[in-house]
Amino acid sequence: MILVTGITGQLGADVVKELERRGENFIGTTRKELDLSNPEEVKNFIIEKKPDAVIHCAAYTAVDKAESEAELALTVNGLSTRKIAEACREIGAKMLYISTDYVFGGDGETPYEISDEKAPQNIYGKSKLLGEDSVIALLRNYFIVRISWVFGAGGKNFVKTMLNFDKRRKKISVVDDQIGSPTYTADLAPLLVDMINSDKYGIYHATNEGFCSWAELAEEIFKQAGREITVEKIPTSDYPTPAKRPFNSRLSKKSLDEAGFNRLPSWQDAVTRFLTEIGGIKNAGNKK
Ligand SMILES: NC(=O)c1ccc[n+]([C@@H]2O[C@H](COP(=O)([O-])OP(=O)(O)OC[C@H]3O[C@@H](n4cnc5c(N)ncnc54)[C@H](OP(=O)(O)O)[C@@H]3O)[C@@H](O)[C@H]2O)c1
Repeated sequence: MILVTGITGQLGADVVKELERRGENFIGTTRKELDLSNPEEVKNFIIEKKPDAVIHCAAYTAVDKAESEAELALTVNGLSTRKIAEACREIGAKMLYISTDYVFGGDGETPYEISDEKAPQNIYGKSKLLGEDSVIALLRNYFIVRISWVFGAGGKNFVKTMLNFDKRRKKISVVDDQIGSPTYTADLAPLLVDMINSDKYGIYHATNEGFCSWAELAEEIFKQAGREITVEKIPTSDYPTPAKRPFNSRLSKKSLDEAGFNRLPSWQDAVTRFLTEIGGIKNAGNKK
Protein backbone atom coordinates (compact mmCIF):
# COMPACT_ATOMS: atom_id res chain seq x y z
CA MET A 1 0.00 0.00 0.00
CA ILE A 2 1.16 3.51 -0.87
CA LEU A 3 0.58 6.42 1.52
CA VAL A 4 0.28 9.86 -0.07
CA THR A 5 0.55 13.02 2.07
CA GLY A 6 -0.97 16.39 1.18
CA ILE A 7 -3.84 15.19 -1.00
CA THR A 8 -5.59 18.57 -0.74
CA GLY A 9 -2.62 20.18 -2.51
CA GLN A 10 -2.01 20.59 -6.24
CA LEU A 11 0.38 17.67 -6.60
CA GLY A 12 -1.16 15.37 -3.98
CA ALA A 13 -4.55 15.60 -5.69
CA ASP A 14 -3.09 14.55 -9.05
CA VAL A 15 -1.05 11.73 -7.51
CA VAL A 16 -4.27 10.38 -6.01
CA LYS A 17 -6.01 10.61 -9.41
CA GLU A 18 -3.17 8.69 -11.03
CA LEU A 19 -3.19 5.98 -8.34
CA GLU A 20 -6.96 5.64 -8.74
CA ARG A 21 -6.60 5.46 -12.52
CA ARG A 22 -4.13 2.58 -12.14
CA GLY A 23 -6.20 0.81 -9.51
CA GLU A 24 -3.38 0.94 -6.96
CA ASN A 25 -3.88 0.30 -3.27
CA PHE A 26 -3.29 3.58 -1.43
CA ILE A 27 -4.36 5.88 1.37
CA GLY A 28 -4.17 9.65 1.22
CA THR A 29 -3.75 11.97 4.17
CA THR A 30 -4.85 15.54 4.80
CA ARG A 31 -3.80 17.90 7.57
CA LYS A 32 -6.62 16.41 9.67
CA GLU A 33 -5.17 12.88 9.88
CA LEU A 34 -1.53 13.85 9.68
CA ASP A 35 -0.62 17.31 10.96
CA LEU A 36 2.98 18.00 10.07
CA SER A 37 3.24 20.84 12.55
CA ASN A 38 3.11 18.07 15.18
CA PRO A 39 6.22 16.02 14.34
CA GLU A 40 5.87 13.81 17.41
CA GLU A 41 2.66 12.31 16.05
CA VAL A 42 3.93 11.89 12.52
CA LYS A 43 6.21 8.91 13.06
CA ASN A 44 3.65 6.84 14.97
CA PHE A 45 0.99 7.55 12.38
CA ILE A 46 3.13 6.20 9.56
CA ILE A 47 4.30 3.19 11.57
CA GLU A 48 0.70 2.38 12.45
CA LYS A 49 -0.43 2.52 8.81
CA LYS A 50 2.60 0.47 7.75
CA PRO A 51 2.65 1.44 4.06
CA ASP A 52 5.07 -0.17 1.61
CA ALA A 53 5.85 3.28 0.25
CA VAL A 54 5.23 6.94 1.06
CA ILE A 55 4.85 9.73 -1.54
CA HIS A 56 5.37 12.84 0.56
CA CYS A 57 3.71 15.74 -1.28
CA ALA A 58 2.58 17.82 1.72
CA ALA A 59 4.68 20.82 2.63
CA TYR A 60 4.63 24.31 3.99
CA THR A 61 4.66 26.10 0.60
CA ALA A 62 4.03 29.77 1.45
CA VAL A 63 7.47 30.95 0.36
CA ASP A 64 7.17 34.60 1.44
CA LYS A 65 5.28 33.90 4.65
CA ALA A 66 7.97 31.43 5.66
CA GLU A 67 10.36 34.33 6.23
CA SER A 68 8.24 35.39 9.21
CA GLU A 69 7.12 31.85 10.19
CA ALA A 70 10.50 30.19 10.03
CA GLU A 71 9.90 27.84 12.95
CA LEU A 72 6.71 26.46 11.47
CA ALA A 73 8.23 26.06 7.98
CA LEU A 74 11.30 24.29 9.39
CA THR A 75 9.11 22.03 11.52
CA VAL A 76 6.70 21.05 8.75
CA ASN A 77 9.25 20.65 5.94
CA GLY A 78 12.32 19.70 7.94
CA LEU A 79 11.47 17.94 11.17
CA SER A 80 8.30 16.18 10.04
CA THR A 81 10.00 14.93 6.89
CA ARG A 82 12.68 13.50 9.18
CA LYS A 83 9.99 11.74 11.21
CA ILE A 84 8.48 10.24 8.06
CA ALA A 85 11.95 9.06 7.00
CA GLU A 86 12.52 7.53 10.47
CA ALA A 87 9.21 5.70 10.23
CA CYS A 88 10.00 4.46 6.70
CA ARG A 89 13.33 3.16 7.95
CA GLU A 90 11.64 1.33 10.81
CA ILE A 91 8.99 -0.36 8.68
CA GLY A 92 11.19 -0.82 5.59
CA ALA A 93 9.09 1.42 3.36
CA LYS A 94 10.28 3.27 0.27
CA MET A 95 10.01 7.05 0.42
CA LEU A 96 9.54 9.60 -2.33
CA TYR A 97 10.17 13.16 -1.16
CA ILE A 98 9.22 16.14 -3.29
CA SER A 99 11.78 18.91 -3.16
CA THR A 100 12.50 22.13 -5.00
CA ASP A 101 14.82 24.19 -7.18
CA TYR A 102 15.04 26.56 -4.19
CA VAL A 103 17.65 24.31 -2.55
CA PHE A 104 20.14 25.81 -5.05
CA GLY A 105 21.70 29.26 -4.97
CA GLY A 106 20.39 30.39 -8.35
CA ASP A 107 23.64 31.74 -9.83
CA GLY A 108 24.80 31.40 -13.42
CA GLU A 109 22.87 30.15 -16.41
CA THR A 110 23.64 26.44 -16.65
CA PRO A 111 21.12 23.87 -15.47
CA TYR A 112 21.79 22.48 -11.99
CA GLU A 113 22.92 18.86 -11.80
CA ILE A 114 21.45 16.76 -8.99
CA SER A 115 24.60 16.83 -6.87
CA ASP A 116 25.54 20.50 -7.34
CA GLU A 117 26.23 22.52 -4.24
CA LYS A 118 23.16 23.52 -2.23
CA ALA A 119 22.81 27.15 -1.18
CA PRO A 120 19.18 27.96 -0.40
CA GLN A 121 18.45 31.68 -0.47
CA ASN A 122 15.36 31.68 1.72
CA ILE A 123 13.74 29.92 4.68
CA TYR A 124 11.50 27.75 2.50
CA GLY A 125 14.53 26.50 0.55
CA LYS A 126 16.41 25.81 3.78
CA SER A 127 13.48 23.90 5.22
CA LYS A 128 13.12 21.73 2.11
CA LEU A 129 16.87 21.04 2.13
CA LEU A 130 16.61 19.89 5.75
CA GLY A 131 14.01 17.40 4.56
CA GLU A 132 16.32 16.18 1.78
CA ASP A 133 19.24 15.79 4.19
CA SER A 134 17.21 13.58 6.55
CA VAL A 135 15.91 11.38 3.76
CA ILE A 136 19.46 10.85 2.46
CA ALA A 137 20.90 10.28 5.94
CA LEU A 138 18.28 7.76 7.06
CA LEU A 139 17.25 5.79 4.02
CA ARG A 140 18.60 3.79 1.13
CA ASN A 141 15.35 3.22 -0.71
CA TYR A 142 14.44 6.81 -1.42
CA PHE A 143 13.60 9.09 -4.30
CA ILE A 144 14.10 12.84 -4.06
CA VAL A 145 12.35 14.65 -6.89
CA ARG A 146 13.07 18.36 -7.29
CA ILE A 147 10.42 20.31 -9.14
CA SER A 148 9.77 24.00 -9.79
CA TRP A 149 7.07 26.55 -10.65
CA VAL A 150 4.25 24.10 -9.94
CA PHE A 151 0.77 24.42 -11.39
CA GLY A 152 -2.19 22.07 -11.17
CA ALA A 153 -5.96 22.22 -11.17
CA GLY A 154 -6.29 21.80 -7.41
CA GLY A 155 -4.68 24.92 -5.97
CA LYS A 156 -3.42 28.46 -6.30
CA ASN A 157 -0.65 29.03 -8.80
CA PHE A 158 0.86 31.55 -11.22
CA VAL A 159 -1.12 30.34 -14.24
CA LYS A 160 -4.42 30.78 -12.44
CA THR A 161 -3.31 34.18 -11.13
CA MET A 162 -2.64 35.32 -14.70
CA LEU A 163 -5.98 33.97 -15.93
CA ASN A 164 -7.80 35.71 -13.09
CA PHE A 165 -6.07 39.02 -13.77
CA ASP A 166 -8.61 41.83 -14.14
CA LYS A 167 -10.09 41.38 -17.63
CA ARG A 168 -10.47 45.14 -18.13
CA ARG A 169 -6.74 45.77 -17.76
CA LYS A 170 -4.45 45.80 -20.78
CA LYS A 171 -1.01 45.61 -19.19
CA ILE A 172 0.73 43.61 -16.49
CA SER A 173 4.31 43.81 -15.19
CA VAL A 174 6.05 40.46 -14.73
CA VAL A 175 9.59 39.55 -13.69
CA ASP A 176 11.81 38.58 -16.64
CA ASP A 177 15.17 37.78 -15.07
CA GLN A 178 14.26 34.62 -13.15
CA ILE A 179 14.55 31.65 -15.51
CA GLY A 180 13.19 28.18 -14.84
CA SER A 181 10.68 25.55 -15.92
CA PRO A 182 7.02 25.16 -15.01
CA THR A 183 5.85 21.78 -13.69
CA TYR A 184 2.30 20.63 -14.46
CA THR A 185 1.19 18.29 -11.70
CA ALA A 186 -0.94 16.18 -14.08
CA ASP A 187 2.26 15.44 -16.06
CA LEU A 188 4.40 14.83 -12.99
CA ALA A 189 2.02 12.48 -11.14
CA PRO A 190 2.37 9.50 -13.57
CA LEU A 191 6.16 9.79 -13.41
CA LEU A 192 6.08 9.73 -9.60
CA VAL A 193 3.90 6.62 -9.60
CA ASP A 194 6.26 4.96 -12.10
CA MET A 195 9.15 5.81 -9.79
CA ILE A 196 7.59 4.56 -6.58
CA ASN A 197 6.77 1.26 -8.31
CA SER A 198 10.41 0.89 -9.35
CA ASP A 199 13.65 0.38 -7.50
CA LYS A 200 15.49 3.10 -9.41
CA TYR A 201 16.27 5.01 -6.24
CA GLY A 202 18.05 8.34 -6.31
CA ILE A 203 17.74 12.07 -6.83
CA TYR A 204 15.89 13.41 -9.85
CA HIS A 205 14.87 16.70 -11.40
CA ALA A 206 11.46 16.56 -13.04
CA THR A 207 9.81 19.59 -14.64
CA ASN A 208 8.19 20.21 -17.98
CA GLU A 209 10.75 20.57 -20.77
CA GLY A 210 12.19 23.94 -21.79
CA PHE A 211 13.12 27.10 -19.92
CA CYS A 212 11.40 30.45 -19.70
CA SER A 213 11.10 33.53 -17.52
CA TRP A 214 7.95 34.31 -15.54
CA ALA A 215 7.20 37.05 -18.09
CA GLU A 216 7.53 34.60 -20.99
CA LEU A 217 5.27 32.17 -19.16
CA ALA A 218 2.70 34.95 -18.68
CA GLU A 219 2.86 35.86 -22.40
CA GLU A 220 2.26 32.23 -23.37
CA ILE A 221 -0.69 31.91 -21.00
CA PHE A 222 -2.35 35.06 -22.37
CA LYS A 223 -1.64 34.03 -25.97
CA GLN A 224 -3.15 30.58 -25.49
CA ALA A 225 -6.11 31.95 -23.55
CA GLY A 226 -6.80 34.51 -26.26
CA ARG A 227 -6.31 37.46 -23.92
CA GLU A 228 -4.89 40.70 -25.32
CA ILE A 229 -2.68 41.85 -22.49
CA THR A 230 0.76 43.39 -22.84
CA VAL A 231 3.33 41.83 -20.55
CA GLU A 232 5.80 44.46 -19.39
CA LYS A 233 9.08 42.70 -18.60
CA ILE A 234 10.61 43.95 -15.37
CA PRO A 235 13.68 43.01 -13.32
CA THR A 236 13.33 41.30 -9.94
CA SER A 237 14.62 44.51 -8.33
CA ASP A 238 11.34 46.19 -9.39
CA TYR A 239 9.26 43.49 -7.67
CA PRO A 240 10.58 43.11 -4.12
CA THR A 241 9.30 40.13 -2.11
CA PRO A 242 10.04 39.07 1.50
CA ALA A 243 11.79 35.89 0.30
CA LYS A 244 14.71 36.07 -2.10
CA ARG A 245 14.19 34.00 -5.29
CA PRO A 246 16.86 32.27 -7.39
CA PHE A 247 17.58 33.85 -10.80
CA ASN A 248 18.62 30.51 -12.24
CA SER A 249 16.15 27.70 -11.60
CA ARG A 250 17.19 25.59 -14.60
CA LEU A 251 17.36 21.91 -13.61
CA SER A 252 19.28 19.25 -15.53
CA LYS A 253 17.37 16.04 -16.35
CA LYS A 254 20.45 13.87 -16.73
CA SER A 255 19.58 11.45 -13.92
CA LEU A 256 16.05 11.03 -15.28
CA ASP A 257 17.48 10.10 -18.68
CA GLU A 258 20.08 7.77 -17.20
CA ALA A 259 17.45 5.87 -15.22
CA GLY A 260 15.32 5.47 -18.35
CA PHE A 261 12.40 7.58 -17.17
CA ASN A 262 10.62 9.69 -19.80
CA ARG A 263 10.96 13.44 -19.58
CA LEU A 264 7.76 15.47 -19.26
CA PRO A 265 6.29 17.28 -22.30
CA SER A 266 7.21 20.90 -23.08
CA TRP A 267 5.92 23.62 -20.77
CA GLN A 268 3.94 25.23 -23.61
CA ASP A 269 2.15 21.95 -24.23
CA ALA A 270 1.50 21.63 -20.50
CA VAL A 271 -0.10 25.08 -20.45
CA THR A 272 -2.39 24.07 -23.34
CA ARG A 273 -3.60 20.95 -21.55
CA PHE A 274 -3.95 22.76 -18.23
CA LEU A 275 -6.15 25.44 -19.84
CA THR A 276 -8.32 22.66 -21.25
CA GLU A 277 -8.45 20.92 -17.87
CA ILE A 278 -9.66 24.00 -16.04
CA GLY A 279 -11.75 25.39 -18.91
CA GLY A 280 -9.44 28.43 -19.02
CA ILE A 281 -9.58 29.05 -22.76
CA LYS A 282 -13.35 29.09 -22.82
CA ASN A 283 -13.64 31.37 -19.82
CA ALA A 284 -10.80 33.67 -20.64
CA GLY A 285 -12.86 36.26 -22.42
CA ASN A 286 -11.43 38.04 -25.44
CA LYS A 287 -11.25 35.14 -27.85
CA LYS A 288 -13.49 35.63 -30.89
N1 LIG B 1 4.23 25.15 -5.51
C1 LIG B 1 5.43 25.23 -6.08
O1 LIG B 1 5.69 26.10 -6.95
C2 LIG B 1 6.51 24.24 -5.74
C3 LIG B 1 7.79 24.39 -6.30
C4 LIG B 1 8.77 23.44 -5.99
C5 LIG B 1 8.48 22.39 -5.14
N2 LIG B 1 7.24 22.29 -4.59
C6 LIG B 1 6.98 21.17 -3.68
O2 LIG B 1 6.01 20.34 -4.30
C7 LIG B 1 5.19 19.71 -3.32
C8 LIG B 1 3.75 19.90 -3.67
O3 LIG B 1 3.47 21.30 -3.75
P1 LIG B 1 2.02 21.86 -4.09
O4 LIG B 1 2.21 23.06 -4.96
O5 LIG B 1 1.14 20.73 -4.52
O6 LIG B 1 1.59 22.36 -2.64
P2 LIG B 1 0.21 23.01 -2.18
O7 LIG B 1 -0.77 23.01 -3.30
O8 LIG B 1 0.55 24.27 -1.49
O9 LIG B 1 -0.28 21.94 -1.12
C9 LIG B 1 0.42 21.71 0.06
C10 LIG B 1 -0.18 20.54 0.76
O10 LIG B 1 0.51 20.39 2.01
C11 LIG B 1 -0.45 20.37 3.05
N3 LIG B 1 0.06 20.93 4.29
C12 LIG B 1 0.60 22.15 4.50
N4 LIG B 1 0.91 22.30 5.82
C13 LIG B 1 0.57 21.13 6.42
C14 LIG B 1 0.64 20.66 7.76
N5 LIG B 1 1.11 21.42 8.74
N6 LIG B 1 0.20 19.40 8.02
C15 LIG B 1 -0.29 18.62 7.03
N7 LIG B 1 -0.39 19.01 5.75
C16 LIG B 1 0.04 20.25 5.45
C17 LIG B 1 -1.59 21.21 2.53
O11 LIG B 1 -2.75 20.97 3.30
P3 LIG B 1 -3.90 22.10 3.44
O12 LIG B 1 -4.68 22.02 2.15
O13 LIG B 1 -4.66 21.70 4.62
O14 LIG B 1 -3.20 23.42 3.61
C18 LIG B 1 -1.66 20.72 1.10
O15 LIG B 1 -2.31 19.48 1.01
C19 LIG B 1 5.65 20.29 -1.98
O16 LIG B 1 6.53 19.40 -1.37
C20 LIG B 1 6.38 21.57 -2.35
O17 LIG B 1 7.38 21.90 -1.39
C21 LIG B 1 6.25 23.17 -4.88
